[in-house]
Amino acid sequence: MNKRIRTSLLILSCFGVGAGLTACNDDTKLTEAKPVQHPIIEMKDGKKVKVGVYTVPQDTEIDKEPNAEEIRYGARLLTETKRLLPDNVGDDINCNSCHISGGKVAEAAPYINTYNSYPMMNPRAGREVNLVQRINGCFQRSMNGKPIDPEGKEMKAMIAYMKWLGQGVPKGQKVAIKNAYPIDTKLVADPVRGQALYEKNCAVCHGINGEGKRDSTGTIAFPPLWGDHSFNIGAGMARTYKAAAFLKTGMPMGVKHDGLWGQGGLSDQDAVDIAEYFTHQPRPDFPGKVNDWPNGKKPKDARY
Ligand code: HEC
Ligand code: HEC
Repeated sequence: MNKRIRTSLLILSCFGVGAGLTACNDDTKLTEAKPVQHPIIEMKDGKKVKVGVYTVPQDTEIDKEPNAEEIRYGARLLTETKRLLPDNVGDDINCNSCHISGGKVAEAAPYINTYNSYPMMNPRAGREVNLVQRINGCFQRSMNGKPIDPEGKEMKAMIAYMKWLGQGVPKGQKVAIKNAYPIDTKLVADPVRGQALYEKNCAVCHGINGEGKRDSTGTIAFPPLWGDHSFNIGAGMARTYKAAAFLKTGMPMGVKHDGLWGQGGLSDQDAVDIAEYFTHQPRPDFPGKVNDWPNGKKPKDARY
């Protein structure tokens, strides 16, 4: 079709044939997602200096890597943890139920700086932990399950994904993002107000009894927030202020037109009240808790 005919057809369909249709412009075209970027920083003489730019990679770029298959396996394990590792996951939650969107989003428990951050001093363990131990900590607490083989291909694949997400930023440098929203821990929680807000903002997806929902294929659609199928009291998410920070930037989903998953709208006080309410509902115990914070300094929202 030559250009003139195409243009006349377009005009016709706008003003002639299509009379009555008002939306006839190019704005309806789908736009390409803009890449998300963050500064890379390094400490020089006690000051933060910008040394580069980090671009959050798209999963399609995984194929360029020599170990693409391993990275993709890691990505699947993090997203479909329950289905792929039923012997190690005791609840109905996947890693990426909390590390939202493949761990690619600031303030939503991202894995972006993770590969570079370990080994790291962990106050809860009272010693330095490496990434393998950190991941197995999440299996025992957030997943209420059992550690996976530290040398196994699953562990290697998850770490390969986290390394890929780090995009070669060298140790000593850091992508300038926060892992969690800095919630004000001086706010005093009101769980009664929290329950009312939970029922209004959260129950539609997570259930009035926090039980969550599966879709007809058995896939976890909305993960449980309490009860036997949720994370145990040893999880970071069981602590009021950690949960509140997550809610503030990650939940409720699907209520706004902007944001990656339409999330947002809670005030800090709302987040703290809701978090206090849902974290303190019945949930599995964590026997290993006796070894936590061996050197004291237990945070005030620890559950034991
Ligand atoms: C119930 C929510 C939840 C689930 C499920 C969960 N995590 Fe986490 N994870 C967190 C939170 C919150 C943190 C932040 C650290 C903290 O506890 O203070 C974290 C921290 C981490 C870290 C440390 C990140 C860093 O850069 O220091 C790693 C690694 C990690 N999780 C991996 C996993 C893996 C792998 C799984 C699945 C086996 C998993 N998590 C499941 C909530 C969760
Ligand atoms: C429109 C549905 C929807 C609403 C409303 C919603 N969530 Fe979620 N929530 C989800 C989904 C889906 C996930 C898993 C994240 C993913 O898979 O990307 C999730 C994950 C979570 C998690 C981490 C996983 C777990 O099981 O612990 C917590 C905590 C949470 N939501 C709390 C809340 C709270 C509290 C509210 C109300 C303020 C809320 N959510 C509102 C859909 C929703």
